[in-house]
Amino acid sequence: MTTTSTPARTTATATHPGEIRRYKDGTRMNHWFVALLFFAAALSGLALFHPVLFFFSNLFGGGQLTRILHPFLGLAMVLGFVFLFFTVWRENLIGRADREWLRHSGQMLKGNKGAMPAVGKYNAGQKLVFWGFAVSLLLLLVTGFMFWAPYFFHLFPVTVRRLAILVHAVSAVVLVLSVIVHVYAAIWVKGTTRAMTRGTVTDSWARHNHPLWHREMTEGHPPRD
Ligand code: HEM
Repeated sequence: MTTTSTPARTTATATHPGEIRRYKDGTRMNHWFVALLFFAAALSGLALFHPVLFFFSNLFGGGQLTRILHPFLGLAMVLGFVFLFFTVWRENLIGRADREWLRHSGQMLKGNKGAMPAVGKYNAGQKLVFWGFAVSLLLLLVTGFMFWAPYFFHLFPVTVRRLAILVHAVSAVVLVLSVIVHVYAAIWVKGTTRAMTRGTVTDSWARHNHPLWHREMTEGHPPRD
């Protein structure tokens, strides 16, 4: 028999039988705002990165506009992420159980889920990607300001600006790779995308992939482990 699973702690809206609410509507809107801005900032940034990729500037109204828009798009993405960060950071703290999960991660990649330790709302892989997002976005924000013409670049010596450009590019690569892993994992683990499209997951998805979180949601108290 399936349960309705609607403990008061995280449930903003009623769910159908056999479903568990994973995200509130506001969190989902926040997430898709960040995802959309990520693609806009990434494509405009790539257009400026190398002449071979300059054709992406056509999406933003040409080279001049791409140059002007890119920092604002990046800033909007980071501001959006700040809200998402403060919604989920606690659940992404890495503990002893996560280090154990990471030690077994080879089994996960082989598809041998049975060998993995039970996880809560997020597994250690998801948590590492989350911190990859947070650190790379912070570095992109700080370094971006350092060579943002015509507003702030004159406040920094040229050598500092050159270093900032290097760190900005490396952070962008880390962010793009983290997003690729994030999207791949969301598609690879069947039934995950609906967490962000509908806000709910099935009871069996939760039991199978996040058993400790499932217990917490269905029994209404944090797991004892
Ligand atoms: C098309 C692109 C994207 C897709 C399809 C996607 C999909 C998803 C899905 C399905 C979840 C729910 C996972 C779960 O609850 O287990 C999720 C969570 C999340 N996503 Fe995305 N996402 C995308 C882009 C992004 C971007 C660009 C960022 C930030 C830079 C981001 C940040 C997050 C965060 C912070 C969470 C909460 C879970 C966590 O802390 O790991 N996503 N995403």
